[in-house]
Amino acid sequence: MSQFQAFRVEKGEDGFTRSIVTRDTQDLPPGEVLIDVHYSSLNYKDALSATGNPGVSRNFPHTPGIDASGVVVSSDSDRFGTGDPVVVIGFDLGMGTDGGYGQQIRVPADWVVALPEALSMEDSMVLGTAGVTAALCVDKLESAGMTPQSGPVLVTGATGGVGSVAIMLLKALGYTITAVSGKPEQHEFLTRIGASEILPREALQEGGKKPLLAETYGGVVDTVGGDLLFNALKSLRYGCSLAACGLVASPQFDATVLPFILRHVNLLGVDSVQLPLAEKQRIWDKLASSWQLPRLHELKRSLELTDVSAAIDEILAGKMVGRGVVSLR
Ligand SMILES: NC(=O)c1ccc[n+]([C@@H]2O[C@H](COP(=O)([O-])OP(=O)(O)OC[C@H]3O[C@@H](n4cnc5c(N)ncnc54)[C@H](OP(=O)(O)O)[C@@H]3O)[C@@H](O)[C@H]2O)c1
Repeated sequence: MSQFQAFRVEKGEDGFTRSIVTRDTQDLPPGEVLIDVHYSSLNYKDALSATGNPGVSRNFPHTPGIDASGVVVSSDSDRFGTGDPVVVIGFDLGMGTDGGYGQQIRVPADWVVALPEALSMEDSMVLGTAGVTAALCVDKLESAGMTPQSGPVLVTGATGGVGSVAIMLLKALGYTITAVSGKPEQHEFLTRIGASEILPREALQEGGKKPLLAETYGGVVDTVGGDLLFNALKSLRYGCSLAACGLVASPQFDATVLPFILRHVNLLGVDSVQLPLAEKQRIWDKLASSWQLPRLHELKRSLELTDVSAAIDEILAGKMVGRGVVSLR
C-alpha cells in the first residue's frame, strides 16, 4: 500500500480541524519498521493531541494515536521480518510522530514489541496504553508489598480506560475493589467488571482539611490527580502505597508530609511512555499469560476512523466508558 487513510489534525487560523485524508507512505517519518496498522485505541492523551495541547503535540498537520497494533510491511531491523504481528505504544508515537490513526506508521525498531502469541491484535488495543499503565500500577503496588490481604484497593476514574482495566485486573488477582466514579448510571458496569463498592467523587473531596483520614485502603490506583489523590493517600492503611498515573482532575495537589511520616505510606509514580522496551515487553508478556483477562472484551467499544472525532469530544468531557478500539482495516 503506498496510499492510505489517516485521521489528520490541522492547525488553522480559527483553531484545530480534524478530517480523514489520503496519505502516501513516502510522507511518513523515517524509521526502521514500516507497519500496516490493524487497530489503534483511544486514550485521554490522544484527545489532548487532537486538540493541540502543546504538552503532547506541537507540530501540525499531525496524525494522533499513541497506540497501534499491526503487521510489519518492511523492516531494517534483525528483530522483525515482514508479516510479524507487532504492537507499539508510547514513546513519541502519536505525539510528535504520526500515530496509529493512520493505516500505516513508520517507527524506530526500539519502539516495537513483538505481539505475544496469546494476544490478538484487537485485544492488545483493548489494553493499549491504558491497559499497560493499569498493569504497571498494579505491578508497582505489588512490588511495594500490596497483597489482597492489605485491604480494599481504591481505583479513581473508575469507568475510564486505565480505571476499568485496573478494576478488572485487580479482581482477577483476588483483590476487593472500591471504585470512585462520577457516573452514577454506570454502577452496574462497575459492579460487573469487579467493583464491590462505588463512591461518588465527592466522597473523596470531603475532609480535605483533615491531616489524616480513616485508615481504609490497602492500595490506590489513581488516574485523576488533584485533591482526590491526596485524600486517597490520607486514607491508606499503615505502610501501604498509592500509584499515581493521571491528571484528568488536576496535575496539582495540596499536600502535607503527615501521611508519609505518621502512616509510613508511599506515593509511587507510573509512566508507560518512556518505560524501557524490555519493561514494556515484560508487562505485555504478563498480560498475555498470568494476568490475561478472559473478559477483556467487555471493556471494548468498537470505533471506525470516522467515529474518532466524536469519541475525542466524549473522552475530553469525561464521558467515555471502558476502552475505545479503532479498527483501521
Ligand atoms: N502515566 C502514564 O503513563 C499514563 C498512561 C495512560 C494514561 N495516563 C493518564 O491517566 C489518566 C486517565 O487516562 P484514560 O485514558 O483512562 O482516560 P479516560 O478514559 O478519559 O478516563 C478518565 C476517567 O476519569 C474520570 N474523570 C474525568 N474527569 C474527572 C474529574 N474532573 N475529576 C475526577 N475524575 C474525573 C472519569 O471517570 P468516572 O466518571 O468514572 O469518574 C473518566 O472516565 C489521564 O490523565 C491520562 O493522561 C497516564
